[in-house]
Amino acid sequence: MLVALLPGDGIGPEVIAEAVRVLDTLEIGGLVFEEAPVGGAAFKAVGHPLPEATLDLAKRADAILFGAVGDPDCDALERHLRPEQAILGLRAELGLYANLRPAATIPALADASALRADIAGDIDLMIVRELNGDVYFGEKGMRATDAGLRQGYDIMSYDEGEVRRIAKTGFETARARRGRLCSVDKANVLETSQLWRDVVTEISADYPDIELSHLYVDNAAMQLVKDPGQFDTIVTGNLFGDILSDLASMCTGSIGMLPSASLDEGGKGLYEPIHGSAPDIAGQGIANPLATILSAAMMLRYSLGLGDAAARIEKAVEVALAAGLRTADLGGKATTREAGDAVIAAL
Ligand code: NAD
Ligand code: IPM
Ligand code: MN
Repeated sequence: MLVALLPGDGIGPEVIAEAVRVLDTLEIGGLVFEEAPVGGAAFKAVGHPLPEATLDLAKRADAILFGAVGDPDCDALERHLRPEQAILGLRAELGLYANLRPAATIPALADASALRADIAGDIDLMIVRELNGDVYFGEKGMRATDAGLRQGYDIMSYDEGEVRRIAKTGFETARARRGRLCSVDKANVLETSQLWRDVVTEISADYPDIELSHLYVDNAAMQLVKDPGQFDTIVTGNLFGDILSDLASMCTGSIGMLPSASLDEGGKGLYEPIHGSAPDIAGQGIANPLATILSAAMMLRYSLGLGDAAARIEKAVEVALAAGLRTADLGGKATTREAGDAVIAAL
């Protein structure tokens, strides 16, 4: 089983290193790692954020463990050369259309949530975010208006096939959980969202056992803070899912805690923390590696058929936190390395 390691930029290499140490500790027979540069690191090394060799490795691998991309030095580059294009390119090239972003209360972290303990106490939700379409991948550019003003534009669109396939993922995910699916859109304003809502509703006929509801995204953001425990599975588009998952992370504790899986139609996946390269703390050795360690667990479960090993990692994270492990984002002093040590000790 070949795992592509794409550490990327900023804290990416720091958190990937700890996830690899945790995987090594499990001594899984046949697991082989191969590393390649991606993002700003790849641009600086070879002039492109997603070099051909890196894309090849990602295609060859059984699964991909990804750190983060993004480098302030690269923010002025032409867009196609910016680090973020690497992750967008991987998602597009590999057809990784289903992004699963789970957020659940960890009892030991009650004090880390941005919400009052009585509100944050019973969160167990899964955001199913569409990852291959929406305003992310539409035509975009800069042009001049008739009045000579600079105008930026990004076209938002979904076709019904794209909505149908992520809606199915949403319904199937809800079926494997507590049977409730909330579709989030902005159908009161956007045609893209009206189609989204129509198609999700059509598909619901195939899932009579699933309780479907719809929320506008502004209300969904408010409800996530007011009463996050009401949600089971949320299915939403690329942009709304991006924003709501950062929001959900702070309901449970920290953005340094939330893992994700990005899956293709066959179950091949890229696994990454939902956070970015955190340039403000990069190089200090204080980033929380748990989101990446938990992403490695998702990789074992979803792409490598190693559910037991995944559960061992998840349990070890819980035990380490219960024993008092706290990186800075969780209000503590543990370093990235010490956090890795604590998980390994609990394994
Ligand atoms: P960010 O997620 O990198 O950081 C937001 C805040 O959260 C920062 O204060 C950061 O220090 C903190 N944080 C994030 N992860 C943490 C961790 N593991 N431990 C402790 N604290 C953590 O978001 P940003 O600052 O908006 O973006 C920085 C760069 O990352 C940008 O270039 C952006 O495009 C990129 N980005 C990449 C990805 C990705 O690779 N998938 C995701 C999001 C952002
Ligand atoms: C994420 C990130 C990416 C996104 C960026 C870096 C392209 O924010 O994975 O959440 O918007 O999808
Ligand atoms: Mn994001």
